[in-house]
Amino acid sequence: MVERATIETIAKHEGQEVELRGWLFNKRSSGKLVFLQLRDGTGFMQCVMFKNDFTPEVFEAAKHAPQESSLIVCGTVRADARSKIGFELSVNRFELLHAAEEYPITPKEHGTGFLMDHRHLWIRSRLQHAVLRVRASVIRAIRDYFDNNGFLLVDTPIFTPAACEGTTTLFETKYFEQMAYLTQSGQLYNEANAMAFGKVYCFGPTFRAEKSKTRRHLTEFWMVEPEMAFCDLDENMRVAEDFLVYVVSRVLDERKIELEALERDTAPLERVQKPFHRLHYSDAIRKLNELGSDISWGDDFGGDDETILTQQYDRPVMVHRYPAACKAFYMKKDPEDPRLSMSVDVLAPEGYGEIVGGGQREESLENLMAEVEKHQLPREAFEWYFDLRRYGSVPHAGFGLGVERTVTWLCGIRHVRETIAFPRMLERLTP
Ligand code: 4AD
Ligand code: MG
Repeated sequence: MVERATIETIAKHEGQEVELRGWLFNKRSSGKLVFLQLRDGTGFMQCVMFKNDFTPEVFEAAKHAPQESSLIVCGTVRADARSKIGFELSVNRFELLHAAEEYPITPKEHGTGFLMDHRHLWIRSRLQHAVLRVRASVIRAIRDYFDNNGFLLVDTPIFTPAACEGTTTLFETKYFEQMAYLTQSGQLYNEANAMAFGKVYCFGPTFRAEKSKTRRHLTEFWMVEPEMAFCDLDENMRVAEDFLVYVVSRVLDERKIELEALERDTAPLERVQKPFHRLHYSDAIRKLNELGSDISWGDDFGGDDETILTQQYDRPVMVHRYPAACKAFYMKKDPEDPRLSMSVDVLAPEGYGEIVGGGQREESLENLMAEVEKHQLPREAFEWYFDLRRYGSVPHAGFGLGVERTVTWLCGIRHVRETIAFPRMLERLTP
């Protein structure tokens, strides 16, 4: 019996005979040779067939196998300096499992609309494959960071009775006789969990009915949200910084082949080290005006403002104390200037913009009730949340990191839509 191997771990089989199962990504032939580019889900590898080693039928079948046919090949793993992965397979057995129909995605250029319509197939291609493997590493690193630093995973509900991040981006759904909303953030429940467990995190899909078409917005995205009892804004920023350094370094360690496939210049990622720049909102506005933006004090940042600001720095920037009016109802006010909130956004370098949003929460019952009123939110829906300020209220803080924006930045690609297998956007619900 020949041992079954995967391309990802092919190095440990050097010189051995193995079996690979996968799909034909590409091929070329030259008289006596066929070069099969096989992908097995874990990687891409060249498999070489010599005419003399096969019956004419098998050799012809290999030579004419259509793109994306499924195959089983056996052969010997040989080191090859020209190969990206350092090895190729000298094939001695070839089995065509299924000869594919004419594959719609050919090596020529296709428009994004076409590719998105064929997303179920597009994810097989080299770059999409690389992006989604980076994503998997980001998620694993996120979990490891929190699991290893005293945070307890406590997941929060997806059906919710009230808004967390403003009422304009709520998705409504029928919930038997009632209306419910798809969660915009697990934060409010996370706060309850933090009062029960100290340091917690939740990690799941979140939903925003984003009506704008931008390269940073999805309607369904994954967010990890840590929340810490007895924590202030400064401590919160230190955690965000430490966490991000860890995630970036893990991706650099684990995903060399993928980042190379994406032609990602890793030098800017290697510079993601502590300390990050910390910038007060008022200083950020001054800086933006110097850089030519017409933003005024009191305005929220637009995507372009984030882009030009982060282009000035060689590592992430943490902008803190945005005007309370730009932020959600739960933000604590700055004791030194009540127009400001104890909020922080982490902006990724190279023009990528906001990847983290968070801050210190209002811990006073009275102030919180006043804010709910001011934001015209239904008070009854927040009664349980007020209880957290009635029974042992403490300073607490947390943040949310968007997985897709983080992966977009780490991969150095333009649009968030390629960082999730099946993106959901304003005009896309299929496939
Ligand atoms: O800044 P946001 O809205 O913060 C919150 O939801 C807080 N309740 C989190 C917390 O403190 N626990 O969202 C956090 C992050 C953003 O920085 C961004 O990375 C991502 O979530 N995000 C989106 N990603 C893709 N598409 C969208 N429409 C996004 N909206 C937010
Ligand atoms: Mg935000």
